[in-house]
Amino acid sequence: MLWSCTCSRMRMFTLKTFLITFLLLLLEQRGIFALQDVTVELFGTNMYGTVAAFGDFNSDKQTDIFVIREQSEVVIFLADSKSPYFKPKVNITKDMLPGDKTITSVVPGDYDGDSQMDVLLTTQDKSSETSVFIFWGNNHTLEISKRYTLNFTLTDQPLVMDFNGDMIPDVFGVTTPPQTVVCYLTKRIQECRNDFNKSIRMRTPHSNAFIDLDKDFTADLFLTTEDGNFETWLNKDGTFAKGEVVSSPAKTIGQSSFVDFDGDGYQDHLLPACLDEACQKSVIYIAKRSSEEWVEVLSDFKQRDTVWGFVPGDAIHPLVLHLGDYNLDGFPDALVILRNTSGSEQRAFLLENAPCNAPNCSSVGRMFRIHWDQTDLGAIQKAVMATFFDIYEDGILDMLILSEAEGKSDLMIHALKNNFEADAYFVKVMVLSGLCSNACPDDVKPFGVNQPGPYVMYTTADSNGYLKNASAGQLSQSAHFSLQLPYTVLGLGRSANFLDHLFVGIPRRPGETETRKHEWTAIIPNSQLIVIPFPHNTPRRWSAKLYLTPSNSVLLTAIALIGVCVFILVIIGILHWKEKKADDREKRQEAHRFHFDAM
Ligand SMILES: *[C@@H]1O[C@H](CO)[C@@H](O)[C@H](O)[C@H]1NC(C)=O
Ligand SMILES: *[C@@H]1O[C@H](CO)[C@@H](O)[C@H](O)[C@H]1NC(C)=O
Ligand SMILES: *[C@@H]1O[C@H](CO)[C@@H](O)[C@H](O)[C@H]1NC(C)=O
Ligand SMILES: *[C@@H]1O[C@H](CO)[C@@H](O)[C@H](O)[C@H]1NC(C)=O
Ligand SMILES: *[C@@H]1O[C@H](CO)[C@@H](O)[C@H](O)[C@H]1NC(C)=O
Ligand SMILES: *[C@@H]1O[C@H](CO)[C@@H](O)[C@H](O)[C@H]1NC(C)=O
Ligand SMILES: *[C@@H]1O[C@H](CO)[C@@H](O)[C@H](O)[C@H]1NC(C)=O
Repeated sequence: MLWSCTCSRMRMFTLKTFLITFLLLLLEQRGIFALQDVTVELFGTNMYGTVAAFGDFNSDKQTDIFVIREQSEVVIFLADSKSPYFKPKVNITKDMLPGDKTITSVVPGDYDGDSQMDVLLTTQDKSSETSVFIFWGNNHTLEISKRYTLNFTLTDQPLVMDFNGDMIPDVFGVTTPPQTVVCYLTKRIQECRNDFNKSIRMRTPHSNAFIDLDKDFTADLFLTTEDGNFETWLNKDGTFAKGEVVSSPAKTIGQSSFVDFDGDGYQDHLLPACLDEACQKSVIYIAKRSSEEWVEVLSDFKQRDTVWGFVPGDAIHPLVLHLGDYNLDGFPDALVILRNTSGSEQRAFLLENAPCNAPNCSSVGRMFRIHWDQTDLGAIQKAVMATFFDIYEDGILDMLILSEAEGKSDLMIHALKNNFEADAYFVKVMVLSGLCSNACPDDVKPFGVNQPGPYVMYTTADSNGYLKNASAGQLSQSAHFSLQLPYTVLGLGRSANFLDHLFVGIPRRPGETETRKHEWTAIIPNSQLIVIPFPHNTPRRWSAKLYLTPSNSVLLTAIALIGVCVFILVIIGILHWKEKKADDREKRQEAHRFHFDAM
């Protein structure tokens, strides 16, 4: 099973024919959910370090993993076709950074606009000031000698976003004394300005986000402030205007994250929180768009007679939900770390997004349900972080769990493959920078540099014929191990219908009033769509490449079909041969009769 998955990751066929789609529509399989530990296959003996970010470093269309080791080194594990599937190939070692600083985050992205992936690092010194370093990427490796340093420090990790809508990621942070700053690094020239000229004191750790909150397909700004408030700054004609301010529902709160929780096409604000200091009583809240009301989508953390709760978290490992649609039902699920409030165990749990069955969540219609008996997750003791990752690029999200190990300074990485085989469908969407389309400078393939800000929405009819929407923002957060994937996996549930409409929008330049949005229709399920928004301000000329990811069942069906064809050919051959023989015999008999008659 595993091998054929790897094959499918290697060979994605550009769609040329409807035949395979037709086969897809014929498929019928039951849903089963099981996890399988594939750590050794993935990492060999290198299964330690803190997973810090994902991104396709060497433009081979496969997502690579950025790992921090000993808090002082970064190792980039490049995806490979042979086991171990992730090999440590590119290193940023201790001596490449000024001494005595700990690396706190890694954010890959194309900061200079040459369509090649660069790597931004943040480090923290003893006075907890954050410095920012950038290593420039070139020809699938890093120009180690030309490190770039931001010549001032920030109070916290920056948010990597696209402030000026040029599709080149910018660095948004706060300096001391508190003043927001936006740094543009286009063509490797630093230009830091206070373009967002507001004196806002951010919360540390912040969970600022760059995401569309009003469904106009232009990314807005969401800020978490020191006094526990949440501010939205909506992009109105290219400038950020202050929207509503919502106050915090609890004293101890975790990191905010944004997903379309209930499938209405709008992004919802999810917030894990504790009702007391020690996190004996935990809650997950949701705030729907332009609603100041917090709704509980999970408050029951009781497993028989054990009460579990969140781990309060600190600046290094804050309390955060990692979201992804593991069962492809179109509603995002979550992975979270919980601890036994009366004991010492700390484990990763899967929270499934399910229809609401309690009065508390009825206004949202959905809630989280904890999968208590997930033995593979339960087997990992002292878990500290859990996130989704599509290991074999087959469209099904797998899991990476980090745990503490006795006597080791680094965390252990565990990879769990999601053997979800169901008649469920997905579309994987990745929006590129569109800085160049075919002829890029230095002959680079414009593929895969992590792009913050694009927004994707679909509408389709579900298996019952109801219209369904879902939306997602690409790379809306970058700091404090938000661990977002550089693409979006949209689960379509069990409807094998074409995706009726898919809308993609990208950030706008200041002052630009027209939205940059394009619509594609009739997208084939189980495919990967790569959107190239080039040129940026002419959406009708944007292009998309569709790759079909043949699943196991498609391959099997194809083999079966070929088998049937061969079988029929053989039968036809045999019949043909028999007929020919019968013909020959008849001819001979006729000739014989002729001779006989002639006599
Ligand atoms: C990077 O580090 C890993 C392990 O830390 C090592 O196996 C690998 O050889 C290093 N690669 C380079 C290019 O130095
Ligand atoms: C890129 O690197 C490869 C080897 O990794 C080398 O053969 C090639 O010449 C390099 N190309 C450029 C333009 O430097
Ligand atoms: C940082 O460098 C830029 C130009 O490289 C310069 O204009 C600016 O004044 C410097 N800032 C500080 C705080 O040194
Ligand atoms: C920032 O705003 C203040 C007051 O709102 C104004 O005095 C100042 O000129 C602005 N700075 C810039 C660079 O726009
Ligand atoms: C989906 O979006 C469309 C267009 O924005 C809207 O008309 C429709 O009501 C939405 N459907 C649901 C179920 O939210
Ligand atoms: C939680 O901890 C208590 C006290 O150590 C223990 O009795 C209980 O079995 C633990 N619960 C689970 C599910 O492990
Ligand atoms: C609903 O909310 C109330 C008050 O916040 C809480 O006491 C109760 O346990 C919740 N019920 C459920 C089923 O979560």
